[in-house]
Amino acid sequence: MGYRVPFVDPKTHYRRLKGEIDGAITECLANGDLVYRRQLKDFEQRLAAFVGTKYAVGVNSGYHALHFSLLAAGVCPGDEVVTVAHTFVATVSAIVHCGAKPVLIDVGPDYNMDLDLLERSIGPKTKAIIPVHLNGRVCNMERLMAIANLHGVVVVEDAAQALGATFNGKGAGSFGLTGCFSFYPFKILSGFGDGGAITTDNREIARMASLLRYNGEDRETGEYHYHGYTALLDNVQAAVLDVKLRHLPEWIEHRRQIAGLYRRGLDGISDLKLPHYADSSFFDIYQNYVIRTARRDDLREHLRQAGIETLVHWPKPMWEHKGLELENPTLPETEIICREVISLPMSAETTREHVEAAVDCIQNFFASWPVSLRTTAAS
Ligand SMILES: Cc1ncc(COP(=O)(O)O)c(C=O)c1O
Repeated sequence: MGYRVPFVDPKTHYRRLKGEIDGAITECLANGDLVYRRQLKDFEQRLAAFVGTKYAVGVNSGYHALHFSLLAAGVCPGDEVVTVAHTFVATVSAIVHCGAKPVLIDVGPDYNMDLDLLERSIGPKTKAIIPVHLNGRVCNMERLMAIANLHGVVVVEDAAQALGATFNGKGAGSFGLTGCFSFYPFKILSGFGDGGAITTDNREIARMASLLRYNGEDRETGEYHYHGYTALLDNVQAAVLDVKLRHLPEWIEHRRQIAGLYRRGLDGISDLKLPHYADSSFFDIYQNYVIRTARRDDLREHLRQAGIETLVHWPKPMWEHKGLELENPTLPETEIICREVISLPMSAETTREHVEAAVDCIQNFFASWPVSLRTTAAS
């Protein structure tokens, strides 16, 4: 069905940037610049500067950014890697594909790793931690890095949803050994297909990731150093991403304004929990605007009928997907979250009118819901 308020709007997004994007693509095509040319190198440099690291290495997905980071960190069969279950499956698949064991832990009220649980989950086999900066909010990296350093464990940041978010002024993806980004079409910085990048201050790690993405080959010498992968970020995608990177600060500001409008419209509905937190050390970029209610499914249907598109990240705990062959880690918070969360429309194209329509609809839903039937949503 066509939605009057779409979750994201890639067609309008393209129309707004058409001149710049068509120019960048045409330049690549006209010059035959398809594989690892100036556009990719320029993008990598600008991305590293934006994140606040020395290096950025373009790869073909956020998944490969994670996988290569773990390989470069020396994660091997027999190792354990601690991460959250409330994440996109790629975070965990990257661990599994290194032959390591994912140790899944619960999240706190901001949907990020519960750091009280982290300390307890580190054991003699733990090689790495993957904090996931979910929905555009960085984990408390000061505390997390202190725990990791205490135990001599590597940190690979899953920053796929957090480009531009900061903690104490420092960018997501600049704290750990590496930061891993995704440029999947609905991310804040989006390509026209899959794409990703690794950021790091470590020259050796950057070099290893550069080799791994190109079948192990050193392009200067022609020497194959590893059995690698075909996973380079396409030059044309890099050219498009480089154009869009220039707009990122204004898009972040826009998302923060949209989040503020949602907040003003929805604050005070006792059955709803909103993604706003008191600590000013965090600068959130709202990759997703996630609200919580015990009546999530009814609310979602109500919004759908009113032509407002929403998404649920994720409706079922990861370990319940039997094909993934994960142990049930018993994570009560993750289980409840899967039943309660709903993501509202949020993109560079979301307008004040879109927010007003969604807010009206949500207010109506709760106003028409008899008080006696109300249950208290997560507090
Ligand atoms: C938290 C998280 N981790 C990892 C990924 C994987 O990125 P990609 O889809 O580019 O492989 C995503 C993207 O959806 C994500 O949201």
